[in-house]
Amino acid sequence: MTVDRAALTNTDKQQVHDFWNKAACGENLYLQTTERTGYVTQSAERYRLESCIEPFADFEAAKGKRVLEIGVGLGADHQRFAAAGADLYGIDLTERAIEHTHRRLLLFGLSSTLAVGDAERLDFPDQNFDLVYSWGVLHHSPDSPKAIAEVYRVLKPGGQAKVMIYHKWSMIGLMLWLRYALLAGRPWRSLRSIYAEHLESPGTKAYSYIEARQLFAQFAAVQISTPLAHGDLLESDVGQRHRGIALTLAKIFWPRWFIRLFMPGAGLFMLIDARK
Ligand SMILES: C[S@@+](CC[C@H](N)C(=O)[O-])C[C@H]1O[C@@H](n2cnc3c(N)ncnc32)[C@H](O)[C@@H]1O
Repeated sequence: MTVDRAALTNTDKQQVHDFWNKAACGENLYLQTTERTGYVTQSAERYRLESCIEPFADFEAAKGKRVLEIGVGLGADHQRFAAAGADLYGIDLTERAIEHTHRRLLLFGLSSTLAVGDAERLDFPDQNFDLVYSWGVLHHSPDSPKAIAEVYRVLKPGGQAKVMIYHKWSMIGLMLWLRYALLAGRPWRSLRSIYAEHLESPGTKAYSYIEARQLFAQFAAVQISTPLAHGDLLESDVGQRHRGIALTLAKIFWPRWFIRLFMPGAGLFMLIDARK
C-alpha cells in the first residue's frame, strides 16, 4: 500500500507521516502481537485507560449509519464501528495504520472501506456521511482548520462530527511546561512550541475552548468538554518518552485528589460533538 505522494509535498506533513509510520499510536506500549489476542488486549487496555472514548463515541448508535473515521491508527475504534454495523469508511495518513486496521478487521470477520488518505483533502463527495469520527488526529495535521472544513464538507446536513483534539490548558500541558520550560531554565517558552516539539508528532497543536469554537464555527451546534484522563493524572505509562528523575518524582507526588476535585476540566482530551 502506498501513500498519495501529492499529499506529502508539504514537508511538515511528511514528518507527521514518518513519525506515525514508524509505530502507530499505542503500538509500542500496548500491542504485543498482531494476532487476535494482541488486538483484543490492546482494545481492553485502550478503553480501560481512556474511559471517555466509549461514552463519547457511542459505537452502537452507528448501526446503519454511513460513518467515516479519520486517522484510524491501530483500528480499535474502527473495529467497534464495524461490529456495530456501520456502513464504514476509514482513512489514515500512514500505510502502517491502514495495514493494522485492515488486518484487525480481517481477523474479526468485519469489513470497512479503508484507504491511505489525508484529512486535509478528503477523497469523498460533499454531504456523504451521517457521522465523521476522529480521535486524536486533526491536531497533528499541519493545517487543522482545513481538515475541519473537510469534515464539514463531507457531512450530510444534520450530520454529526465527533472529534477529539488536544486541549491547551491541560495537566499534560502543565507537566510539559514544568519539564521543558521551567526545569530547562526557559520559563518564557510558549505552550504552543512545547506541544509542537514534545507531544507526539512534530507540530502537534492544542486548543483553548475559544479557539476550538472558532475552528468549529461553521457547525450549528457544538458541545465541548475536557475531562481528565490517565495522562493528566499520571496513572499510566504515558510519558515514557519523557522518562527521568523528574517524571519518577512527579508520579509519586502528583496531587491527583486535588486535580480531580478542583480542576476536573483540565484534561488533555477535548471532546467536540458538533452538528452540521
Ligand atoms: C495519535 S494517533 C491516533 C490514532 C487513533 N485515532 C487512536 O486513537 O489511536 C494519530 C493518527 O493520525 C494520523 N494522521 C495524522 N495526520 C493525518 C492526516 N492529515 N490525515 C489522516 N490521518 C492523519 C496519523 O497517521 C496517526 O495514525
